[in-house]
Amino acid sequence: MENRAQFSSRAGFIFAAVGSAIGLGNIWRFPAVAYDNGGGAFFLPYLFALLTAGIPLLILEFTIGNKYRGSAPLSLARVRRGGEWIGWWQIGISFIIATYYSVIIAWALAYTYFSFNLNWGSDTTNFLIADYLKVGDTASMGSFVPGVLIPLILVWVIVLGILFAGVKKGIEAATKVMIPLLVVLFTVIVIRALTLDGAVEGLNQFFKPDWSAIGNGKVWVAAYGQIFFSLSIGFAIMITYSSYLPKKTDITNSAFITGFANSGFELLAGFGVFAALGFMAAQQGVGVNEVVQGGVLLAFSVFPTIINELPGFQQVFGILFFVSLALAGLTSLISIVETYMAGIQEKFNVSRAKAVTFGGGLTAIVSLAFATQNGLNLLDVADYFINQFGVAMAGLFEVIFIAWFAKQLKPLQSYADAVSDIKLGAWWRISLSIITPVVLGYMMFDNLRQNLVGDYGGGDYPREFLFKYGWTVALGAMFFGILMSLKPWKGHDLDYESEIDEREVG
Ligand code: PHE
Repeated sequence: MENRAQFSSRAGFIFAAVGSAIGLGNIWRFPAVAYDNGGGAFFLPYLFALLTAGIPLLILEFTIGNKYRGSAPLSLARVRRGGEWIGWWQIGISFIIATYYSVIIAWALAYTYFSFNLNWGSDTTNFLIADYLKVGDTASMGSFVPGVLIPLILVWVIVLGILFAGVKKGIEAATKVMIPLLVVLFTVIVIRALTLDGAVEGLNQFFKPDWSAIGNGKVWVAAYGQIFFSLSIGFAIMITYSSYLPKKTDITNSAFITGFANSGFELLAGFGVFAALGFMAAQQGVGVNEVVQGGVLLAFSVFPTIINELPGFQQVFGILFFVSLALAGLTSLISIVETYMAGIQEKFNVSRAKAVTFGGGLTAIVSLAFATQNGLNLLDVADYFINQFGVAMAGLFEVIFIAWFAKQLKPLQSYADAVSDIKLGAWWRISLSIITPVVLGYMMFDNLRQNLVGDYGGGDYPREFLFKYGWTVALGAMFFGILMSLKPWKGHDLDYESEIDEREVG
């Protein structure tokens, strides 16, 4: 245990955790989710979810990692043997996300290059679908698309290179540069967006509260879903990162910093995106509601259009935007891949170099499927199913396991309190043992019901395609979790826990 890799300081750890949290979800998911779920009124459920699930779970995962000092499966096995499979399930989910998240970063790199000449022309959607991605139908994979394949290889060289270098020299060193750089570049974009004609109208539309949304269960579920995805909780990630923390680091404070930094960036992105959308609507003489988009189309079709319409420095802002997207994505991808690097190293007793070569190599190879003509369809379906039956659901199992099966909330609370300035109160235990399970439980059943009743995409995708790449992927991650937990550990003390003596400090 003494030789476990460590971050050099708490600041290094926080950069890494914030880097994981701030990602595509902040830039292209949050603004659209907030707008669709009550605009200004959404902040109420959002804040509630942050304080009853987001930050409490961050504290929980930081404490588990710090106390049990292992990858998620090893740490959870140390909490109680039966928890191990949840850690592997989360790793399975992370693996799947990594295979397509990397592809989106590859697109961002390609679009950085396109920015130099505004290659996307005036019909940006057609450029994206037909000229760039060369999307075919779902019946066959089609051939590789070189414009995706080449930057994708570059993404993997960067990410695996950083992971190869280790926790301190790789992850910490990279995120310490990338996150401040991202914040600076992105702030420049937001300031430019806010000073465009029509920006104010965009913000008005974004913040206009629809108070009736508060009474709608879906809005609350959307808030929880956003918090889980955006904070990277329930993914094995934060457990892994905090297992590299120097002992006796303030946990609770670090969780608050991470949570508020992430939400702050989310809000910043909301301002930027809606100011820009307001500008676009004004240029085209339409209402803001007609131009709102989220996800792939927001980044790769709407933003290129906005860039075309800018009064000056179009290329510069194109580059700034796509580099920001790539940076935000890269620091998240690093964290996703690191979680299973840690798991592989410990379960198979191999070196970091071997884990990165084989584990990372395998992800890179699987991700190539998304660099084909069928890539966009695959990505859409895999992303949808893993979000419905992975993200948050694995978090639900995790909190139920800790709070109700292993009954570890009290001991974990005293561990966190022993090293932290802010002491945890009953809100922490009630949030994790009752509020979060109730909301997420409702969410899980509602998701199941909807997906069993109607097909995703309302018939856009053939059933067989949904089955093959949607359900199989989502359930496969869970099955993988169970399978991996059957393999016994070698050379790891399953009874290990950090020896901070709570009685002494308490
Ligand atoms: N939190 C990241 C974001 O907001 C995404 C992410 C999801 C990272 C899952 C790791 C794991 O985009």
